[in-house]
Amino acid sequence: MKMQAESTIKQKTVSQLPSHGEIIDFEIKLLIEAIQFRYGYDFSHYAQASLTRRISSCLKKFELGNVSELIPKIIHDVEYFESFLREVSVTVTEMFRDPLVFKVLRDKIFTQLQTYSRINIWHAGCATGEEVYSLAIMLKEEGLLSRSRIYATDFNNHSLAIAEQGIYKAEKIPLFTKNYLLTGGKASFADYYQAKHSHAIMHEELKQHMTFAHHNLIKDQCFAQMHLIICRNVLIYFDRTLQDSVLGLFHQSLVHRGYLLLGDKESLDFSQKKNCFTAIAKEQRIFQKVSYE
Ligand SMILES: C[S@@+](CC[C@H](N)C(=O)[O-])C[C@H]1O[C@@H](n2cnc3c(N)ncnc32)[C@H](O)[C@@H]1O
Repeated sequence: MKMQAESTIKQKTVSQLPSHGEIIDFEIKLLIEAIQFRYGYDFSHYAQASLTRRISSCLKKFELGNVSELIPKIIHDVEYFESFLREVSVTVTEMFRDPLVFKVLRDKIFTQLQTYSRINIWHAGCATGEEVYSLAIMLKEEGLLSRSRIYATDFNNHSLAIAEQGIYKAEKIPLFTKNYLLTGGKASFADYYQAKHSHAIMHEELKQHMTFAHHNLIKDQCFAQMHLIICRNVLIYFDRTLQDSVLGLFHQSLVHRGYLLLGDKESLDFSQKKNCFTAIAKEQRIFQKVSYE
């Protein structure tokens, strides 16, 4: 019986063998499954091209020959997984990144937020926090900081720790100062940090209005009663299905007439939630929730 079964197994001909690219895709699928199984992080709806690029730069950094070598290390070593997460998540950011967006936020949206006695803001995918401090500075200048609470979240613990410290390299200050002035800054950027050696330490007064928390946009719950949600340059790494689910989470988290700010390459155009928002400043990607659907 066994002999008969073996004789019916047909091997693939050379032309049927998987290509190098197909083998890599297969290994990445296995890796995604291993991460999901072991840690509950689901990368299956990340945009595949950029994820593949990040994984391959990760292999170089870890000096590994292929994805299959990475899998057991990730399964058995939590710290290795943390380093992997650090490598695959793109955390590029800066203070007042895209100054015109921050200027429109200051001029158009903050005037509307004035009407609330308490202002809840969720900054999702805050990376190392530069945008969060930018926001706090503007809130202070517009007289809103004392009644504001900013919930700043990310799934990368390493970035979150830097955000919470609020200490940045002095060499970045000229760029941050230039951006700040372009947003219509009302004081001097130097008023908001203390220079120490080669670093700038952001003022405690700004931090007092921030709550930093680990939050995974793929699997964690919504934040209730938000008046403004800022999530820039995060959805760009997700596929359409995941973008829709995260936009649903934001819609659920916002109060009626709450505001949503996305990154300049992100939009609601192809989303199922498109009709639940209206554009307030289309070019700056600022939207307002208009329906409960
Ligand atoms: C390019 S940074 C954006 C930083 C900032 N918002 C900006 O535009 O300058 C993208 C951030 O999204 C975070 N991120 C990616 N996937 C995430 C997820 N599933 N849940 C929460 N944060 C995520 C990354 O860790 C990273 O810090």
